[in-house]
Amino acid sequence: MEQYATFFKSMLRHPLQTGSVIPSSRYLAQTMVRDMDLKNASCVVELGPGTGAFTRTILSQLNPQAVFFALEWNPNLVTFLKREFPNAEIHCDSAEHLGKYLAERNTKADYILSGLPLSWLPKDLGERVLDTVHESLTDHGKFSMFQYIHSSMTPMGAQVHHMLKKRFRSIKISRTLRNLPPALVLTCEK
Ligand SMILES: C[S@@+](CC[C@H](N)C(=O)[O-])C[C@H]1O[C@@H](n2cnc3c(N)ncnc32)[C@H](O)[C@@H]1O
Repeated sequence: MEQYATFFKSMLRHPLQTGSVIPSSRYLAQTMVRDMDLKNASCVVELGPGTGAFTRTILSQLNPQAVFFALEWNPNLVTFLKREFPNAEIHCDSAEHLGKYLAERNTKADYILSGLPLSWLPKDLGERVLDTVHESLTDHGKFSMFQYIHSSMTPMGAQVHHMLKKRFRSIKISRTLRNLPPALVLTCEK
């Protein structure tokens, strides 16, 4: 229950950055990782973990030897995440700085999962994040993100789709109705 209260408070304080009133469901989390072989991954990154709806699923499937870190911009959510996942590496930083953390380890990511509300963030920030995501993936890496079905049909939603198509060679779209609101997962291959 605490995760709902923490998430809701974030939404009241930072509506555009939070982009939702409640955390994603475990069904959406499972769809986010469905095309990812997390057991055999060397490096996985999460952007915008919020209260950890996807973090929990990622950590339950990830090889314990793998590098994993998450970048969350909101310090209150970082405090919550550090308490909830004491062994996970969570940084209070913006997603666009992802390359710095990979460079420190001299590695690239097999998989990057994003909870960022790209339709609501400033377009130039979204472009920078997606450039960094693309550069940060290995040659066979995958990036997954979600959009609520209703917002995917708006001009801002279509713009996000266009930004992905400019960078990735394929985009697979899966639908999850068991989420409030129902959502699409876009899994992009480099
Ligand atoms: C829609 S919520 C998703 C949270 C969680 N992944 C989920 O699905 O329940 C978006 C999250 O992205 C975070 N966020 C927004 N802009 C960010 C940025 N530039 N860098 C990192 N995190 C950001 C917000 O603080 C929030 O936690």
